[in-house]
Amino acid sequence: AREPLVLGIETSCDETGIGIVRGRTLLSNTIASSMDEHARYGGVVPEVAARAHLEALQPTIEAALAEAQVELADIDAVAVTSGPGLAGALMVGVGAAKALAVALDKPLYAVNHLVGHIAADLLDADAPPLEYPTIALLVSGGHTSLLLVRDLTGDVDLLGETVDDAAGEAFDKIARILGLPYPGGPEIDRAAASGSDGLGGTRAGDPNAIRFPRGLSRASDMAEHRYDFSFSGLKTAVARWVEQQDAAGNPVSTADVAASFREAVVDVLVTKALAACADFGVPRLLLGGGVIANRRLREVALERAAAAGVTVRIPPLSLCTDNGAMIAALASELIMAGHGPSTMAFGADSTLPI
Ligand code: KG4
Ligand code: ZN
Repeated sequence: AREPLVLGIETSCDETGIGIVRGRTLLSNTIASSMDEHARYGGVVPEVAARAHLEALQPTIEAALAEAQVELADIDAVAVTSGPGLAGALMVGVGAAKALAVALDKPLYAVNHLVGHIAADLLDADAPPLEYPTIALLVSGGHTSLLLVRDLTGDVDLLGETVDDAAGEAFDKIARILGLPYPGGPEIDRAAASGSDGLGGTRAGDPNAIRFPRGLSRASDMAEHRYDFSFSGLKTAVARWVEQQDAAGNPVSTADVAASFREAVVDVLVTKALAACADFGVPRLLLGGGVIANRRLREVALERAAAAGVTVRIPPLSLCTDNGAMIAALASELIMAGHGPSTMAFGADSTLPI
C-alpha cells in the first residue's frame, strides 16, 4: 500500500504544531509557540493559549506545506489531538481539523496526545525501528506519565501518572521560588551547572547538598502508587527550606538548591520507570516530553538503565516537545495498520483517557 501523506494538528497546550509525514517519514514539523506571552504569568494561561492558536493555525499550516513541498490537495488524511490538554486550546485545533477534512473531503483521525508523544519516536530516522513492548516515560509541563506500550495503534496501558503537578510544572514553580524566569527547566539546569553560591560567587551545585523528598516512593506509597508521581510535596519542601534559611540569615546557594531539587525529580522519575521495566520484564525504555531536555535526567536515565540492562531511546528534542508531526505519525501508523477514520462526532476532551 502507498504510504499515506498525513497533516497533523496539535494545539493541546501552548504550541501550535503542524506536522506533515508520509508513512514514517517526516516532511515538516512547524511550530508557533505562545510561550513568550505566558512568561510574565509564570505558566501557561489557557485563554491566552487558545487565542494564540486561532491566530497561528493558518500561517503555521502554510509554513508546514511549504516546508514539506506539498499542496493541501495532496493530503490523504488530517489528524488532530483531541485530548488530553487545555479544553479551549484543544477546541481550536479540533475545529480547524474538522473544517479542513470537510473542505478537502479527506478522512479525519482524532488521536490521543500521550500516544502521539510515543509515536514521535517513529520519525527518528537515525534510530533502529521501535520494538514492542516498551515502557514509555512522558515528562512535560503538562504531564508525567508512565506507559506500557505493546502496540502504538491499539495496545497502550497507562501504568501511572502524576497525582498533582507535572514534572515540568515543578521545574517552573521552583524556578519562580529561586527568582529565575519561565520556563524554569532550562534555568534550573543552568543554575545547577553554575549558579549562585550564596556568598557572591558562582559554582556548580551539589546534588547531595540538601536531601529533598522523593514523592510517593516510601514503601507504604509503593503498594498503591507504584507508578504514580507527586511533585507538590517536593515544591513545598524546597519553598520551606529556602524560607527557613532566609529566616536564619544563612546564605542560600541557588546552585545547591537547583541541583538538589533536580536530583530529587530525576531520581524518582528514573527509579519508577526502571521499576516498571523490571516488573513487566521489558528491557526497553522510551523517553518523551519537553523535560527530556534536562541534562541530568538523560545522564541518570542512561547510566542506571545501562546498569539494569535496559535500552533507552530518546528521540531528538524537536520531536519530544509538543508538535504536530507526532500526531500525524500516529494517524499514519493507524492508517497503515488498517484503522478507519474517526466520525465527525468527536469533540475536545481535556481528560481523554488512553
Ligand atoms: O513538552 P513541552 O515543551 O510542553 C508541554 O508542557 O507539553 O514541555 C515544557 C516543559 C516546561 O515545564 C519546561 O520547564 C520543561 O518542559 N523543560 C525542562 C527543561 N527544558 C524544558 N525541564 C527540565 N529541564 C530542562 N532542561
Ligand atoms: Zn505533550
